[in-house]
Parts: sequence; structure tokens; C-alpha cells
Amino acid sequence: MRNKLVIGNWKMNFTDTETKNFLSGIKVNIPEGKSKVVVCPSFLSIKTAVEVLEDSNIEVGVQNVYFEPAGAYTGEISVQMLEDIGAKYCIIGHSERRKYFNETDEMVNKKAIALLEKNITPVICVGEDLDIREQGTHLEFVEIQVRKALSGIDIRRIDNIIIAYEPVWAIGTGKAATENEAEEMCSNIRYIIQKMFGKEVSENVSILYGGSVTSSVSEAFISKENIDGFLVGGASLKQDFVEIVKIANMVE
Ligand code: PGA
Repeated sequence: MRNKLVIGNWKMNFTDTETKNFLSGIKVNIPEGKSKVVVCPSFLSIKTAVEVLEDSNIEVGVQNVYFEPAGAYTGEISVQMLEDIGAKYCIIGHSERRKYFNETDEMVNKKAIALLEKNITPVICVGEDLDIREQGTHLEFVEIQVRKALSGIDIRRIDNIIIAYEPVWAIGTGKAATENEAEEMCSNIRYIIQKMFGKEVSENVSILYGGSVTSSVSEAFISKENIDGFLVGGASLKQDFVEIVKIANMVE
């Protein structure tokens, strides 16, 4: 059985003090339930988040990593550093990193392999721009992203990855995809994993939707067969995150 998850991607928001205050507030309201709950603060606040959430059912992830184990890579953070500080998940290939920091599919693949070696769950983001959606080639576009991200990964480790389908045109725009658009892509992603690694493996991989998720739209998505939860940006910085978790917990 695959996990349901709600992951908060805080992006470049919240100071260390704000992190402490926000997490102290929400941790008592996050209900125990079927969904795993993860927050991904800035690197500078990971230690604080791990400490504040120690006695809670919220886990801590990060928003990026570098794939080399150590060395002269000024400004970068290694997988071992994440492991040591207690981060359990790592977002890779987010469209903002692809766009502003030139993260390529090849880098996403190397990061995924490095993370899996240390048992940190990669949350691999894929998704098309608006012009690709308008051309009608979005399924093929995302298939290439998924295939490149998962290339060469040991089949025994595949069920420790998470894929997040985030159409770029839905991120931060207040205009989420429809639940049917998201389900079409998420079921297609599961089928790609099936073609690469077999049906049993594909059934165990959690596939999330992200892009303008709020509590008011989340019920429609979570009832879909191939959508196992959410990667939440803006709404994860508000009390609405708690409401999204409650909705994700309601559905079988
Ligand atoms: P959003 O961001 O929920 O603010 O659209 C989602 C994301 O970028 O992960």
C-alpha cells in the first residue's frame, strides 16, 4: 500500500523565529491520521524544525541538495549533512529550481540516486509549462522528465521515491489544474513507472499533485485514484495547511 502525504514547500519564506512560532502553533492541531505530514523549511531552520517537531507527527524535509558527497562546492549542501540533521525528505527538480537555477533532468537523476543511498526520500517534481499544455504534448513532456529522473535507479529503491506533478502554470497562480487534468497526468506517471519497473512497484509509488492547492480544492483531488496527496506551496504557510491535512486524512 502506498502512503498518502501532504508536504509543505515553504520556498524562501519564514525566518528561524517565524519557523519556530508557526510550527509550535500548527503541530498541536495536525491530526493523527492516514496521511504523513512533512514541512520543508529553509536550510537555516531545519534544526529548529526538527527540534520543535520532535514530539509531533510532522516530519521535516528540505527543498534542495547537491549530489556530490563532499568537497569544493561553495554554497552547497550534501546528502550526508541532511541525514545528520534529521531531514527525511528532499524536494528535487522543482520548476523554480529548473527555471532560476538551471537544474536539469540529469542533475535531478543524480540527486535522486544520492538521496536514496542514504534513505532520504526524493520528492521529484515534474510538470509542463503552459505552452506545452496548449500544444497538447504535456503527457509526452512529463514522460521524458520522469524517465530521465528515474533512469538507472535500483528497482528495490523505487518505492522510496515520491513524484509530484506540478503543472508550472498552476504554481502560485491561484489557478489549480482541474482534478481530472491532474488525475490524467498522475495515472500516466504511474503507467510510465509500470513500464519501467513493473506493475507491483508502480502501485507502491506515491504520486502527489501540486499547484495552488488549498483546502477548498483538495477534496476533489484526493478522491482520485492516482492522486496520493499534495505538495503545497503558499497554503503551507497558513493555518489552511492543517485543513488540507484533515481533508487528506478523510479519504481511504
Ligand atoms: P503553490 O506552490 O501551492 O503556491 O502553487 C506549489 C509548489 O510550488 O510546490
